[in-house]
Amino acid sequence: MKFGHFNDATREYVITEPKTPYPWINYLGNKDFFGLISNTSGGYYFYKDARLLRLTRYRYNNVPTDDGGIYFYINENGNVFNPGWKPCKADYEEYECRHGLGYSVISSKVNGLRAEQTSFVPLDTTASVHRIKLTNESDQEKTFTLFSLVEFCLWDANDDTTNFQRNFSTGEVEVIGSTIYHKTEYRERRNHYAVFSCNEEIDGFDTDRETFIGLYNSFADPDAVLENKSRNSLASGWSPIGSHSKVITLKPGETKSLVFVLGYCENPQDDKWEAQDVINKKPANELLAKFKTDEQVESALAELKAYWTNLLSTYSVKSSDEKLDRMVNIWNQYQCMVTFNMSRSASYFESGIGRGMGFRDSSQDLLGFIHLIPERARERILDIAATQMEDGSAYHQYQPLTKKGNNDIGSGFNDDPLWLIFGVAAYIKETGDWSILDEMVPFDNDESKADTLLVHLKRSFDHVTNNLGPHKLPLIGRADWNDCLNLNCFSENPGESFQTFGPSEGPVAESVFIAGMFVAVGPDYIRMCEQKGLLDEAKAAAAAVEDMTQAVLTAGWDGEWFVRAYDAYSNKIGSKECEEGKIFIEPQGFCVMAGIGVEDGRALKALESVEKYLDTKYGIVLNSPSYTRYHLELGEISSYPPGYKENGGIFCHNNPWVSIAETVVGRGNRAFEVYKKTCPAYLEEISEVHRTEPYVYSQMIAGRDAKNHGEAKNSWLTGTAAWTFYNVSRFILGVKPDYDGLVVDPCLPDDITEFTVTRKFRGDTFNITVDNTAKAQKGVAKLIVDGQEVPFGPIATIGDKVREVKVIMG
Ligand code: GLC
Ligand code: GLC
Repeated sequence: MKFGHFNDATREYVITEPKTPYPWINYLGNKDFFGLISNTSGGYYFYKDARLLRLTRYRYNNVPTDDGGIYFYINENGNVFNPGWKPCKADYEEYECRHGLGYSVISSKVNGLRAEQTSFVPLDTTASVHRIKLTNESDQEKTFTLFSLVEFCLWDANDDTTNFQRNFSTGEVEVIGSTIYHKTEYRERRNHYAVFSCNEEIDGFDTDRETFIGLYNSFADPDAVLENKSRNSLASGWSPIGSHSKVITLKPGETKSLVFVLGYCENPQDDKWEAQDVINKKPANELLAKFKTDEQVESALAELKAYWTNLLSTYSVKSSDEKLDRMVNIWNQYQCMVTFNMSRSASYFESGIGRGMGFRDSSQDLLGFIHLIPERARERILDIAATQMEDGSAYHQYQPLTKKGNNDIGSGFNDDPLWLIFGVAAYIKETGDWSILDEMVPFDNDESKADTLLVHLKRSFDHVTNNLGPHKLPLIGRADWNDCLNLNCFSENPGESFQTFGPSEGPVAESVFIAGMFVAVGPDYIRMCEQKGLLDEAKAAAAAVEDMTQAVLTAGWDGEWFVRAYDAYSNKIGSKECEEGKIFIEPQGFCVMAGIGVEDGRALKALESVEKYLDTKYGIVLNSPSYTRYHLELGEISSYPPGYKENGGIFCHNNPWVSIAETVVGRGNRAFEVYKKTCPAYLEEISEVHRTEPYVYSQMIAGRDAKNHGEAKNSWLTGTAAWTFYNVSRFILGVKPDYDGLVVDPCLPDDITEFTVTRKFRGDTFNITVDNTAKAQKGVAKLIVDGQEVPFGPIATIGDKVREVKVIMG
């Protein structure tokens, strides 16, 4: 069942039924100010950090779900409705929510009155703009009152939901004209406040929640709205809100727009006050002056759209498969940008107060946006590298505001260091900027311990070879990519962290996944050493990669697939010898991506085993059979009921590894089948099963051992975004940046017989046409560049030129 449709021309998903199977959200903001907005205008707004500088309150896991957001109420003679249907849930004649790139337009028509809310964060602005357009589509004159509502968060979102003995006494506001200033804690250590303003004169306001809503009412029936009259309340403690009201009369056919701005303002520490207890309004005045008129709002929205048009012109495809095109050209890249901005902090599944930036996650996210914002990717790489320790290990997470490593979780996730090599390699291949390797980067954020980025990468590489276990495979530490495979931890008490409890005595558990990854990134490290003239180092690295390959082929091969790991007792994990968890997805994907066993047929065998034992109609499960009981020696993986998350769930993040691996062995049909199974646009028709947004990936879809097989959770903030884009853009469509130029080497299903890609790369614009009428799946028979047939290989860039590339497969 569908709840809307794609509009590719406007790059929107159009929701036509407010009761979606789960709130379907969008993100507003590109840089410092962000908002999450659902199809019924639920959600919240924050500046830079979703925990520390949250402007509006949001209650996760609320009943009803997704209550609270930015709401507009229209009361016409006692009939009350909202443009986004919620919270009043009035009967509507029409409802529509259009989620676009960085903006959402939510509208309804009730009783001949159309109310349209356009919400976005203008470029380079620390505020969200919400334009309300009201049109009288009836043949009678209409008089009604428009109310706005936001509920302020007292800045630190964690504190806001826990420390009520203090919070109920700290709230403070000021109201001047049509502007409400939320200034809680400004009198002491804060130098920032929030504004919520209307561009017209208002008839009333409220800033005290209890006065506006009533202690025993809800967002759906606020006293002030029902009585059609603001009380002009001034909050003192309790819960400050912002609400305006305005009486409006519209003739038949008449339209009126009002602009509401919710923004963040900051003053210099020594210029906080205008007078005793009166905040300095200068930054607010400057901000609000930019969005006084409809024209200003229109042009800010047009700029935002132009920004996205330009950004997405970096990579676009045209094929006979419109779902493929819309994911590649619009939604997958958009989601990658959202993961750049949010990491794993704020979504409808991430509360914004939990995790910081992951070393591994952020390094992988780079794969999805490096072509779009290479300069910011460079900065991100250097930030990540600065949290690495001198011995090559890495803090698992760091805090976005301080950029410092997080001590609570610490280090010891032994795949982490390798992801840095992965990210840097992707950056150099995109930009050709080798100078990044010479950047001086601190260890553990200590400037006195700075060394070049290349030295950081050496420490990463050596961290693996310095920490080998009994089978000459890498020690796993607290976990590898699979955060829940905690082979050294042995946690018996609830509340202990599965990851940070332990490691126990003699943590000798080993990871075949890390081994595969080491072999996969080895050639990049070797190439970087060669480039910098470190030939001995390159040679030694090549030998280490060869040793690791041998270790995988001996201790890491189970007969039909790659073993997953060895536990602390040196027992195999992910082997036919195991009772549960006989086979895991990760080593099959990564070892084949690394090229291990390609020559002797083991790679193909492993992928056949994936198909035979792990595949389902909704995607490939992580392991099978799922663990049915808690295994002390395995950790969190076995804490999940069978079929969910890392225990037999379809972890979308590593499905593309298998798809890429299929392209390595040249099976284009299977690669594309794997790609499609988890790809949201192909799941739109079964939205009632899938439940999360049909325009973005989710982290997990319940596996076949789960009751709700096919149901997705944790949409938006997942490494799936970057990995699927990496897969489809570079391996399936095959347009791959490499050190010496652009390689075009597609791996296609039989039903894609031709396509074109436009790719901006190092200053050139490549117009690439691929002809697969031969249905070759893989292999380039002819490469024609700018009219000349050339041998297959990287196409060097010229700079600032339009290049014509024709590829004939066969
Ligand atoms: C989550 C984490 C990621 C991890 C994955 C598997 O998505 O963010 O770092 O690799 O789970 O456990
Ligand atoms: C839990 C989740 C995993 C995530 C981790 C982050 O272990 O299952 O997906 O990576 O938390 O700390």
